Amino acid sequence: MKKGKVDALLGIVFGDEGKGKVVDVFTPQYDVVARFAGGPNAGHTIIFEGKKFVLRSIPSGIFAEDKVNIIGNGCVIAPDLFMAEARELESAGYDLKSRLHISKRAHLILPTHRVLDRAYEAAKGKNKVGTTGKGIGPTYSDKASRTGLRVGDILDNFEAKYQALKARHEQILKDLNYTDYDISEEEKTWLEGIKYMSEYPLTDTEIEINQYLKEGKNVLAEGAQGTMLDIDHGTYPFVSSSNTTSGGVCTGLGVGPNAIGEVFGIFKAYSTRVGSGPFPVELFDETGDKIREIGHEYGAVTGRNRRCGWVDLVALKYAIMINGVTQLIMMKSDVLDGFETIKACVAYKKDGVIMTDVPFETEGCEAVYKEIKGWNCDLSSMTSEDQFPQEFKDYIKFLEDELETPITILSVGPDRAQTIIRKK
Ligand code: GDP
Ligand code: IMO
Ligand code: MG
Repeated sequence: MKKGKVDALLGIVFGDEGKGKVVDVFTPQYDVVARFAGGPNAGHTIIFEGKKFVLRSIPSGIFAEDKVNIIGNGCVIAPDLFMAEARELESAGYDLKSRLHISKRAHLILPTHRVLDRAYEAAKGKNKVGTTGKGIGPTYSDKASRTGLRVGDILDNFEAKYQALKARHEQILKDLNYTDYDISEEEKTWLEGIKYMSEYPLTDTEIEINQYLKEGKNVLAEGAQGTMLDIDHGTYPFVSSSNTTSGGVCTGLGVGPNAIGEVFGIFKAYSTRVGSGPFPVELFDETGDKIREIGHEYGAVTGRNRRCGWVDLVALKYAIMINGVTQLIMMKSDVLDGFETIKACVAYKKDGVIMTDVPFETEGCEAVYKEIKGWNCDLSSMTSEDQFPQEFKDYIKFLEDELETPITILSVGPDRAQTIIRKK
């Protein structure tokens, strides 16, 4: 029998590209949908039939009743937030417990990890990362330090292991002089979350996934965050703490590189970034405000303003290279409907030097733009590429030529239905 493949759908800029929407659209073509990295720092929005859901830890394939969804070993999970998220789906009528499998090797986010996240941010002063405050960094730090707690630990002598790690965190917080916190209420809900989670299949998901592949089943790996937030390849130290790129699919699910099929790179027709760190295309003027307003660019997790700017081809080319992207998906073109002129960043400039590769340090880089004529009409009701105005077709062609990768899917609105698959 022909083996199945793992296709990856990856955010290739600073996150919030619309991964959740497209995973939901793709799910009918797959047998399994799996998250391989990140945790509740993610906020993946799915809109259909007048309903809206924002998922954090649960894969966006959950709305197709017959599909298995997996939270892989590369993820970190907060039991209390997971419980709240899962209960919301259960009360909306979705059955989860039989088809949402959680890796025993995924790491647990403790309440004290969240306190540590705040403490480390406070200590950074004006160099704050601007984290989501979900304890992501401290949890991955414990994983790398070999002191973390994993989901499988729930099954054996958990209380003692929990108390030991909590005591260790309390000591670190004391050393940091960060003692003004109270987790007593949070801890109750968290422990309730641990009990709740243990009602789910806690499995060796890497073995399970490889068995599915052997049976010819196909898996969709759902990325979280984006390439420029990758711990190795992003704008360090203003990054998240996991590998959000295609290598993370292999380590975060336990599959070999030869199991990877298509790598879908998803980006917006413009750029956004939440949190601190260099962002050469950032617009500080009314154009930036207009993009934010029309695109509703406010964080799905924290509600923070997303910083907005024009599309960044330097970052996109880099991300396509790092991930081995085979197809591009462009989102939110409808947001640019009312612009006479749009711009694309084709190079960075620093100290008079022009660069077309992402440098070691992007701080201080200025964007060099190419101006493009806008299409100035409503794309959101279009259902086929034949209806696209010539200027929009030209924009797509320009991007494909620059990026040397086909754009195969275009999203023209937040709803599941507003998705256009291009003809081959
Ligand atoms: P994710 O984290 O990559 O899943 O993306 P988010 O859900 O954080 O952010 C994407 C936002 O854009 C959500 O509010 C979506 O509902 C919305 N969205 C997705 N695709 C489109 C689109 O094509 N047009 C518009 N206007 N909104 C979109
Ligand atoms: P999705 O999956 C956008 C950003 C935070 C911060 C940095 C580190 O919805 O695209 P962390 O809490 O991970 O330690 O924060 O990364 N960040 C995201 N930005 N989308 C996300 O996820 C993000 N997850 C983390 O704002 O700058
Ligand atoms: Mg998001």
